[in-house]
Parts: sequence; structure tokens; C-alpha cells
Amino acid sequence: MSSQIFTNISLLVNTREDNYIVRGKSLSKLPIIENAYLVVDNGIISEYGSMDNYKHPISEKNKVEEHCMVLPCWCDSHTHVVFAGSRENEFIDKLKGLNYAEIAANGGGILNSAKKLNETSEDELFHQAWKRLEEVSKMGTGAIEIKSGYGLSLEGELKMLRVIKKLKEKSQLKIKSTFLGAHTFPIEYKDKHQDYIQLLVNEILPLIAKENLADYIDVFCEKGFFSAKEMETICLAGKGFGLKPKLHVNQLNSIGGIEKGIELNAVSLDHLETLTEEEIKMLGGFNRCSTLLPTAAFFLRMNYQPARKLIDAGAAIALASDYNPGSSPSGNMNFVVALSCIQMKMLPEEAINAATINGAFAMEIEQDYGSIKVGKKANLIFTKPIPSIAYLPYSFGNDLIDKVMLNGEFI
Ligand code: NIG
Ligand code: FE
Repeated sequence: MSSQIFTNISLLVNTREDNYIVRGKSLSKLPIIENAYLVVDNGIISEYGSMDNYKHPISEKNKVEEHCMVLPCWCDSHTHVVFAGSRENEFIDKLKGLNYAEIAANGGGILNSAKKLNETSEDELFHQAWKRLEEVSKMGTGAIEIKSGYGLSLEGELKMLRVIKKLKEKSQLKIKSTFLGAHTFPIEYKDKHQDYIQLLVNEILPLIAKENLADYIDVFCEKGFFSAKEMETICLAGKGFGLKPKLHVNQLNSIGGIEKGIELNAVSLDHLETLTEEEIKMLGGFNRCSTLLPTAAFFLRMNYQPARKLIDAGAAIALASDYNPGSSPSGNMNFVVALSCIQMKMLPEEAINAATINGAFAMEIEQDYGSIKVGKKANLIFTKPIPSIAYLPYSFGNDLIDKVMLNGEFI
């Protein structure tokens, strides 16, 4: 592939010399080079700078539309995009007044998706997930983490993880895979928690390791699901097979997941709708990502995560979509960014950094993704003409993306 040169653009660059996780006040730093150029060679960003220093020939071809902004693709570090069918019937129940717990008690929720998933073939699951990846990449997502957790059986979990592996091999998106066998207890293990944990640890994990099916291990640490102690047992077993923890904690209740997650040196602690002051302080000192999923809070009509308090405490916030059929049936990161500004009072630059470079940190791919930097992958969003970067979250819900480039190719 030859060089691609773009001129007369506004470039959102990350000017830090090194790749540091962005925390506290520095989250709002996202310098713009107005009237810039950018060169892409073989899918990699090879050069950029101000047009004042531009040395290449200018042709009509490489002039990008005026007022176009170029920013790094979204790095969506928490999703469940491999699932079978949808759950809009539960959505209707919810509109009629049932809450999340009541829906789950009626056989809905995660178990409903698990039933559907176990009845769906690997090929069909791949096909459905592929369509979702196509949809989110057109909305600017260039890297994504995908969890299992709707199998809840040896066969089901391996089937999901094999689908994710195939997606990794075939998709233009950068994909990381997470084993979430501990999403909930299947009905037959309702009163036999230890037996299910043994199944995860002694039977499923060794097979995952043998087929190299996952990068991370996740546990839904929540009242009525997995305790902090159970999470620890599962994560330590996962670590034994080389899987680092990336955890669901404090969505509905505070039951010790944060403290335990920090102790386990999790790559990220995710959800965080329900936090005590003490836990906010702990996350402020945590050297990994605190990942907020505001569309889940939006869809479930819960309180939003305390983003400002976390930023003030010094936490490294990442933003992700949580794309799943139950609590966030959308993977639109543009909406995640807008919602973070509108409802959590994040500044546009903070939200963009949290959805790009910190999302990359939350998937440990920050060396190659998440910012516009020489040597990184050319995963770029080209906007339609917009007056400023704040216009993106301000004009929420509007389609402001002109083109998306993945690995140097427009999709
Ligand atoms: O991250 N909280 C646990 N898991 C998902 C929801 C799963 C579902 O309802 O299907 C989440 O929000
Ligand atoms: Fe989730």
C-alpha cells in the first residue's frame, strides 16, 4: 500500500512523549493542531504536523473537506457483543414497571440470553456478532473487548470463546477476549455455588488455556451473583492460566469488589455505579483503569457513575459501551461520549481521552492504538464539518462521522 496524505485537517493528537495512562486533571488535555496534515504508510501513522511545515506536494486528491476533524477510533474496552437474538420483550416488561431483579426472577435477564445462546449454532452466533462489529466500526470503533458469559456451561462458554477467536482472526477490528463464565449461576447450580466454581476452575479454564481462547478473566461481583471471595478464587485460578482479571464490580451494590479487584491487580474495574467515598479514594490511587459504562445506567435508569469525583480523586477513567442485550443494547461510542458529558459532566476532551487512549490501556493495546501518534495503527475517525470538538457530544445522537479508517483503509 502506498502513502496516503491528508491535508488541511484539524488533528486531535496526544502530544505526550510516552504512553502514560491519563488520570486526574491531565484527562482534559487533548491538543488540536488546526490546519494539519497526516501521512499514513502501510496502515501506520508515519507523519503528521502543522501545514506550515508541510513538504509533500499538494493535490486535489489529498485535500480533505474543510473543517474536518480527525481523531483516533474509539477503543471500546467492555462489551458482550456475542449474544443470540435480543431481549426487547423484557424491555417492554420494564416499561410496564418491572425492575432488573424482577425480570431476572421471571427467568429473564442473563439466563434468558444463556438459553438462547445454547440453542444457537456457532456459525449463527458468528454471523450475528459479525453484523454488530460492522455496525460499531461504522460508528468509529476500531478496537473492542468481547466477553463470554452467556454460555454458562462448558459447551456454551467454549462456543462463545471460539466465536470470539474467529472474529479476532477475520475482523479488521482489534479484538481482546474475556472469559466471563462467572456471569451468573445457572439454574441447576442455584444452590451449589461451589460446584459451579469448580466447573469453571477445574474443567473450563484448562480447556480455554489449551485452545488459547481468552486474554482476560471476568466475574460479575454482585449481591445475588458472585461474592468478592468467590471472585478472588476464580481470578486466582485464571491467573494460574495466564488470564488477568478485568472485573464487573459495584454496579448495584458495594460488596468489597473494588478492594479485592485492586488487590488482584485487575487490568480494569468496570461499572462503578455504586461507590462509597472510601472506594472513590481507592480508585483514585489505583494504577489501572476505572471503566464507566454510562449507557447501562441510562438504559436501567440508575444513577450515573460519579465521574467528576473519580477524576478529582485522580482515577484513570475509561469509557465503554457494555454492548449487551440486557442492559445496553447499543454499542454506539459516540452516544457513550455524549452521555458522559451530558449526564456525568465530563468535558469533551476528558470523554474522548477516556474513550480512546484509556480504553486502549484497559485492553493493554496502548502501544498501537488509542491515539494519533507516529508508529501507531491508522485507526481514525474523519468527522463531517464541525465547528469544534465540543460539537460532537453537544450535537448528541446526530451522525457526525464522515469516514472511518481501520489499519489504513477506509471501511
Ligand atoms: O454488564 N451486569 C452484568 N452483565 C451485563 C448485563 C447482562 C445482561 O443483562 O444480559 C452488564 O450490564
Ligand atoms: Fe458488562
